[in-house]
Amino acid sequence: MIGSDSRVVNPSREISGTIRVPGDKSISHRVAMLSGLASGESVIEGFLTAEDCINTLRSMEILGASVSRQGDFVKVVGTGGKFNSPKSILDMGNSGTGMRLLAGLLAGQNFVSEMTGDDSLRSRPMKRIKEPLEMMGAAVELLGRNGCAPVRIRGGNLHAIEYKSPVASAQVKSCVLFAGLFANGTTTVVEPKATRDHTEKVLKGTGVPVKCDGLRISLDGYGSGGPKFNGRKWFVPGDFSSAAFWLVAAAASEGSQVTVENVGLNPRRTALLDVLKRMGAEVEVRGQANEVGNLEPDINWEPVGTVTVRGRGLKCTEIGGDEIPNLIDELPVVAVAGALADGRTVIRDASELRVKESDRIATMAKGLSALGVKVEEKPDGMIISGKAKIKGGTEVDSKGDHRIAMSMAMLSFFADNPVRIHNVACINTSYPGFWDHLRKLTGSND
Ligand code: S3P
Repeated sequence: MIGSDSRVVNPSREISGTIRVPGDKSISHRVAMLSGLASGESVIEGFLTAEDCINTLRSMEILGASVSRQGDFVKVVGTGGKFNSPKSILDMGNSGTGMRLLAGLLAGQNFVSEMTGDDSLRSRPMKRIKEPLEMMGAAVELLGRNGCAPVRIRGGNLHAIEYKSPVASAQVKSCVLFAGLFANGTTTVVEPKATRDHTEKVLKGTGVPVKCDGLRISLDGYGSGGPKFNGRKWFVPGDFSSAAFWLVAAAASEGSQVTVENVGLNPRRTALLDVLKRMGAEVEVRGQANEVGNLEPDINWEPVGTVTVRGRGLKCTEIGGDEIPNLIDELPVVAVAGALADGRTVIRDASELRVKESDRIATMAKGLSALGVKVEEKPDGMIISGKAKIKGGTEVDSKGDHRIAMSMAMLSFFADNPVRIHNVACINTSYPGFWDHLRKLTGSND
């Protein structure tokens, strides 16, 4: 999403208080899609009513579901296992998750459908889903340049596959598992590294048996008639990736303390907490045991709780290997932590950052440098020399990437002068209310 909007962020050494962040984006997409496919009514509480997930809800309507919404409380009456042929192109906006996961479900439908998105989404790789979906029997055309969207899918008559994914991507895994619902036989995805397992959990939540055996995830398909499950009540916890910005800002500022309540604490999402501990922050987690989400005791659901981070000053660390998928969306703000830490922080094995909403290695390196931080860009990460003076009185560009815009806002708190951040409207794709929280936690920042 590209806009000409901008915002000035003032220095603010104390970042303290208690907040609740909006609903988890990954979970909201998944429950919206499964509710669209269910028989009967689903009620979703805590849904992320941000642009990305609203686009997914709209697609569900175009595919035949009926949707009503009051704040973050959403009701969906699903289509009962198969979608209706869409009368228009499905616009997934800025969301790779929306497009790649829905591609899996569309591959199971006996009709031709087309998905598109904004400039950012139309520059992201889609061959990673074309390959497995075509192995299953769908025809997938990538109508953009260099294997990008728009995506046209002729679905139906799928067969089960065992797919060894070359990328550690929850989106690819989920796409194949969703398509597998419409195949005969057992579909298996083998991941190179463990990625977030929300799809496995929400599928179990609908009663679809999913087997997880280390890096092998399998499900038995229902064939071309599609899966039959009833709508249900879903609870979406706060998004850990939104909480992350404030947790890092508090950690980097001695004497600050931020508490985030009702936040999702799935271990495949919370590696940032381990990183912050290594860097010297005090991290306290309470109520981790399914206490809020476990509305139906027989359903394996997401851990939820409260996190408090207290700042003690940060020291450098190294981040790489299996940890990367468990903090992939937090790496821009981890780079900010590195800039504010003593010593050289190294991020490696993270080349996937180059194909996110922007090239997050290049965009972050540029943003950090603009504020006087020494950073060495690597093909798969960066090396950040921390504790330089953060020079404000300048401008940076998010390149329309929501996580870069919010990460740069965090770094700006530590600058010697205000910083103007360009292209901040993209924050609405994941974190409506971000600026209100900024005001609340910094006292005032306008
Ligand atoms: C997501 C998975 C991740 C993440 C994205 C959301 C998901 O992408 O970066 O923001 O909801 O499955 P990849 O799985 O492609 O790394």
